[in-house]
Amino acid sequence: MALTSNLRLFTAALLMYAGLTTSANHCPSCGTTPVPYPLSTGPNCGDQSYKIRCDAGSLKFDTLNNTYSIATITPDIQRFVIQPSSFVPNTCVTSDISTMGIQMNSSLPFNITSSNTIMYLNCTTTLLNSPLNCSSTSLCHSFINSSAQVSACQSAPICCTFRAGGSTTSYMIRVRDAGCRAYSSFVNLNPTLPVNRWPQPGLEIQWVSPSEPVCGTQADCDSNSTCGSDVHENGVNRCFCNSGLRWDPIQGLCAEIVTCQDPNGCNGGSKNRTALIAGLTAGLGTALFAAIIGALLYKRHRRIKEAKERLTREREEILNAGNTGKSAKIFTGKEIKKATNNFSRDRLLGIGGYGEVYKGFLSNGTTVAVKCAKLGNTKSTEQVLNEVRILCQVNHKSLVGLLGCCVELEQPLMVYEYIPNGTLSDHLQGPNRGHLSWNHRLFIAHSTAEGLAYLHFSAMPPIYHRDVKSSNILLDEKMNAKVGDFGLSRLAHTDLSHVSTCAQGTLGYLDPEYYRNYQLTDKSDVYSFGVVLLELLTSQKAIDFNRPSDDVNLAVYVQRMVEEERIMDVVDPILKEGASRLELETMKALGFLAAGCLEERRQNRPSMKEVAEEIGYIISVATAKDVEKVD
Ligand SMILES: *[C@@H]1O[C@H](CO)[C@@H](O)[C@H](O)[C@H]1NC(C)=O
Ligand SMILES: *[C@@H]1O[C@H](CO)[C@@H](O)[C@H](O)[C@H]1NC(C)=O
Ligand SMILES: *[C@@H]1O[C@H](CO)[C@@H](O)[C@H](O)[C@H]1NC(C)=O
Ligand SMILES: *[C@@H]1O[C@H](CO)[C@@H](O)[C@H](O)[C@H]1NC(C)=O
Ligand SMILES: *[C@@H]1O[C@H](CO)[C@@H](O)[C@H](O)[C@H]1NC(C)=O
Ligand SMILES: *[C@@H]1O[C@H](CO)[C@@H](O)[C@H](O)[C@H]1NC(C)=O
Ligand SMILES: *[C@@H]1O[C@H](CO)[C@@H](O)[C@H](O)[C@H]1NC(C)=O
Repeated sequence: MALTSNLRLFTAALLMYAGLTTSANHCPSCGTTPVPYPLSTGPNCGDQSYKIRCDAGSLKFDTLNNTYSIATITPDIQRFVIQPSSFVPNTCVTSDISTMGIQMNSSLPFNITSSNTIMYLNCTTTLLNSPLNCSSTSLCHSFINSSAQVSACQSAPICCTFRAGGSTTSYMIRVRDAGCRAYSSFVNLNPTLPVNRWPQPGLEIQWVSPSEPVCGTQADCDSNSTCGSDVHENGVNRCFCNSGLRWDPIQGLCAEIVTCQDPNGCNGGSKNRTALIAGLTAGLGTALFAAIIGALLYKRHRRIKEAKERLTREREEILNAGNTGKSAKIFTGKEIKKATNNFSRDRLLGIGGYGEVYKGFLSNGTTVAVKCAKLGNTKSTEQVLNEVRILCQVNHKSLVGLLGCCVELEQPLMVYEYIPNGTLSDHLQGPNRGHLSWNHRLFIAHSTAEGLAYLHFSAMPPIYHRDVKSSNILLDEKMNAKVGDFGLSRLAHTDLSHVSTCAQGTLGYLDPEYYRNYQLTDKSDVYSFGVVLLELLTSQKAIDFNRPSDDVNLAVYVQRMVEEERIMDVVDPILKEGASRLELETMKALGFLAAGCLEERRQNRPSMKEVAEEIGYIISVATAKDVEKVD
């Protein structure tokens, strides 16, 4: 008896031990549903930042004030789908209206993806002014006309449709009495299909790639990783993968670095080829000598190639050391030449003080913008790599992403994500500037300010842009603003003690204090951003010789108008036309904010963080009382 019970205990302990070492990170299945890493249903499994709940055999996702069932999980794309709230029977109201719909904690690593098409139902008339599609042809009308579940909504005449995942909808789908009272959502909806072939309603949520697991001691890590301190988070230790292995955030373990894609093995190929060359030529006695030379040359070629590959890998490792999620690549000169069709003229996107920008197509189908970096020619490759490393860690939705760099050609090249829709400057100056509604302009101002505030306050070390202007603000196809060219500005810490006599920045945007002390600070970016705000407000150029001579400089011109209490006279007539009283008020408020940014003395200017908050406040005033807006 005693023996068997001891044996049982022993077996149980063994099982527990095995369970801990092989899958310490993974949570057990919930009912029959596997729970992939990093999702966590308990304090001892998964990653604690990724909490969900297992409730009576089914998975639940808790938002700030509500709970939704998880319908499906797709770990390899790091997404799951939740079931949206049901409707209060026989009404066009979703039952989560009491919690204002879906409100997620934006500090957690989950957000709503842009694969969701949202139907907003039973909306107030104020929604008709919103940028959402609330027209009578909008998809939501087909939905309520042909779906029995929402037939109650036919007596609620206003509904709207939009794609989620913009800056205001990545953490909430808001329903409330003063806006829309119900919603439904569809993942990857093909709008050309008839309603009866639409998928079940669902809201897709994405999780951010998890970092390595947190550890207290080495005992918390498996044999493939070592507990060490995280340079990016003070006082946090993580299980970092041992050399030769890399962190796989999808499997949640350390995996071998795969460099060889050849299923027949990597070394076999070269041996066979060398042997083949040798064999063929050896038969022809006279060619024996040539064969040996050939084989030697081939080996040498291979060795050089391998050395180069190793160097690239090592550089990428330096670049990506401690990088969270996003990885920078070292491109070879050959890849860049191929991508830009050998820097062909018809790929030239623009020329500026910084050099030239080319459009390129990488072999994986990504479209990129390739820029010659304006880095001093005294800088070494190491310096360039180090600077790129810092830039690669700069990752914010309002900044153009840096994908990598190339230091192989004479001039260092930076490879950026390609933003298709031109610059803010193009949009403001064109005859179609009316398309940029006041709301659009506020959102552009807000995301630009957020991007710059991120550079000033969240990048380590801080980065001052030094060339903020409307032609450096790119717009994507959804008119979201992304700040570009911050990679070409020099990093803040390199220049503090250094007096440069060569003027930086652009005429019309340049901080007047620069002329006094030849230094640019974060407040110089605030000044330049103030000029951008004026451009948004007036649709005029920063420098325009067609204006009377004392008004050539937009900042000077508007400051004069502010002093004469005529600020509304400079606002673009297209914006004022048909604007509500509230909108006119918000234009005035933005005008005063711009004037604050343009203060002569740096210490009187607000910080970029304050500017971003102020614009956020202006937007909330506009949206709270006037219309419900989602970009
Ligand atoms: C629309 O919402 C209002 C406010 O919640 C509600 O009173 C009304 O019943 C809803 N309409 C329909 C058709 O359910
Ligand atoms: C959500 O819950 C918090 C407290 O738990 C409460 O203060 C807040 O008002 C709630 N929000 C909504 C929209 O219900
Ligand atoms: C949001 O999440 C953060 C991080 O876990 C937490 O500290 C904070 O309390 C949460 N906020 C709310 C309102 O629950
Ligand atoms: C609204 O959606 C319908 C159907 O997709 C489309 O035909 C129409 O052009 C859209 N209207 C606006 C203003 O976007
Ligand atoms: C929905 O039904 C209404 C009333 O029957 C009709 O006027 C409207 O054209 C329909 N809309 C769509 C998009 O099917
Ligand atoms: C949501 O999170 C993903 C993963 O981190 C990120 O790539 C994406 O930009 C985020 N989307 C928004 C709208 O914040
Ligand atoms: C360690 O890594 C090796 C190679 O990838 C793998 O075969 C092994 O299962 C890993 N061990 C653990 C405990 O994860």
